[in-house]
Amino acid sequence: KAMAIVRELDEKCGTPIGKLMQVADAMAVEMHAGLASEGGSKLKMIISYVDNLPTGDEKGWFYALDLGGTNFRVLRVQLGGKDHLVGKQEFEEVSIPPHLMVGTSDALFDFIAEALKKFVDTEGEDFHLSPGRERELGFTFSFPIKQSSIASGTLMKWTKGFSIEDAVGQDVVGELTKALERVGLNMRVTALVNDTIGTLAGGRYYDSNVIAAVILGTGTNAAYVERAHAIPKWHGLLPKSGEMAINMEWGNFRSSHLPLTEYDQAMDAESLNPGEQIFEKIISGMYLGEIVRRVLCRMAEEASFFGDTVPPKLKIPFILRTPDMSAMHHDTSSDLRVVGRKLKDVLEISNTSLRTRKAIVKVCDIVSVRGARLSAAGILGILKKLGRDTLKEGENLKSVIALDGGLFEHYTLFRNSLESTLKELLGEASETIVIQHSNDGSGIGAALLAASHSQYLELEE
Ligand code: BG6
Ligand code: GLC
Repeated sequence: KAMAIVRELDEKCGTPIGKLMQVADAMAVEMHAGLASEGGSKLKMIISYVDNLPTGDEKGWFYALDLGGTNFRVLRVQLGGKDHLVGKQEFEEVSIPPHLMVGTSDALFDFIAEALKKFVDTEGEDFHLSPGRERELGFTFSFPIKQSSIASGTLMKWTKGFSIEDAVGQDVVGELTKALERVGLNMRVTALVNDTIGTLAGGRYYDSNVIAAVILGTGTNAAYVERAHAIPKWHGLLPKSGEMAINMEWGNFRSSHLPLTEYDQAMDAESLNPGEQIFEKIISGMYLGEIVRRVLCRMAEEASFFGDTVPPKLKIPFILRTPDMSAMHHDTSSDLRVVGRKLKDVLEISNTSLRTRKAIVKVCDIVSVRGARLSAAGILGILKKLGRDTLKEGENLKSVIALDGGLFEHYTLFRNSLESTLKELLGEASETIVIQHSNDGSGIGAALLAASHSQYLELEE
């Protein structure tokens, strides 16, 4: 009976190439619709106001603040211009206390401002600003923001584990600036970016072939460089570069072609944001372990998979985190002892047979492979939109996609599956497409954008 549940899961989660192609096509169609009009699609296709990506000319000391998933980071970087690129780089990582993710806007921003202030106090002797110059900050805020300029924008909704009602609709730069004043820190936010946009900027800085960035972490999302004239909803002046970086917010993509199961539906219904972020909920790190838990729970309830009673811990939502799932999935020992240890430590289930452990690894495999293959289909959708998914005679541009996020970085089997699926989908065109891990590109990217949008630029010219 338990194996029947696993087999059924396997069938429902199936992602044959034909299905992935349909998903990629649907993604490209939704991209068009989201660019055509505001609210035209599940994909918000947010205009980032970043119409010039870093060139290497950026110079000076800048700060960046990166608020995304479970941690936030503060960075101080010295940009050295073309010959030196990034010089000194210091950072600190602070985990966000869970109660602040569901509290008030002031409490969250005060906490961040305090941490930033402490970090500023550690400035070394070599830190230098010209007289009269304020410190400047690039703010990576990894949630859907309706940008009104490069340095302002209002929060449309929360995603991932956050839910702070009074922040929705507020200008997050205004909120941060007020908190900085409250803690007595003199600093100006000169760029507000999504983590995908930061990663795109950071990636482009080192490699001019970078055309898109994808985050696979707690949440998932993508950004890419679009031709400005291909954005009908943009009514501003056409940028000189002719380009505009777009934050897709692809986590909110959905399509009838997505292989959804009863576990996904139940998890969605009980989530902080029912009906939203469906693509994200079957791909990203916040949810994969939870899907596995739900499957194991059904196996325990309906097939006595762990004996006569259902282990009580197994009933607790989100208790099985994706890093634990990943550890079990990567277990290569003959007796699957890592699986055994995780079951004991996380779920307080002991004395499991090898058969039981094998079945659990299989469940992890099914759930992660579905996520990885769908991510590859999403990337193919972007390449299709840009006309870079096939080889063309005479002009085979190299396209680099910058990837970052904990899931991509640490879940090797997920990453391998994504990469091999993309190859499979692209066929011979895969020669021209490169997946590049851009570690902490988004922090550096935000600092670079803070520099290129510095309020002192005119003074320097
Ligand atoms: C980091 C980036 O590497 O990955 C962040 O610097 C991004 O900007 C993060 O938000 C996403 O990963 P996770 O796993 O922390 O959600
Ligand atoms: C969520 C956020 C998005 C972010 C992504 C990755 O999908 O809505 O803005 O880029 O997570 O962190």
